[in-house]
Amino acid sequence: MNQPSADYLVGAVKKEELQDMININLKTLPEHYTDDFYLELIQKFPEGCLVAKANGVIVGYILNRVELNFGSFGLNLTKKGHVVSVAVLEDYRRKGIGRRLIELSMGAMRKRGCKEVFLEVRISNDEAINLYKKLGFTITKTIGGYYTNGEAAYVMERPI
Ligand code: ACO
Ligand code: ZN
Repeated sequence: MNQPSADYLVGAVKKEELQDMININLKTLPEHYTDDFYLELIQKFPEGCLVAKANGVIVGYILNRVELNFGSFGLNLTKKGHVVSVAVLEDYRRKGIGRRLIELSMGAMRKRGCKEVFLEVRISNDEAINLYKKLGFTITKTIGGYYTNGEAAYVMERPI
């Protein structure tokens, strides 16, 4: 477990912690996934699927994937890190946990040879957009009707 501060610890999610992570997703986001999807992400990129714990209790998570894609900052094929989902329980927000989860993920992506990181976010999700901007992400695209309720997504990315 990484030791970012006295308040919480961040480390790779263990199999037995998967359900707690899923429960945070159910409480915090409208986008849900099958157990198989979670397991696949964890199997493929274990060091990029993290949980944050406060007093031993999981209060946040991040799920990431490494993808082979055309780079936005060039025309060659590059490995990109994809932030699939990140969330922190409401009572634990604004303590730097979201930021820490993304920073550690970018470190893991870099070690896997990723040159860029990207994500999609609801255009109304101001707190998440603020967090990503603070971390140096910029909006590169808008995808209309991306979410099931018809809301558009911003694609945000940055080099790593
Ligand atoms: N209002 C304005 N700015 C904010 C807010 C907010 N409510 N929340 C975060 N920020 C910005 C601030 O600049 C903040 O720094 P500061 O506190 O020093 O001002 C900075 O982001 C860092 O915030 P953290 O404390 O690291 O973020 P937190 O741990 O609160 O997690 C998160 C942010 C994950 C977006 C949280 O609000 C959350 O879980 N929201 C619900 C789930 C969600 O929307 N997830 C993202 C979906 S998109 C995706 O998953 C790819
Ligand atoms: Zn995505």
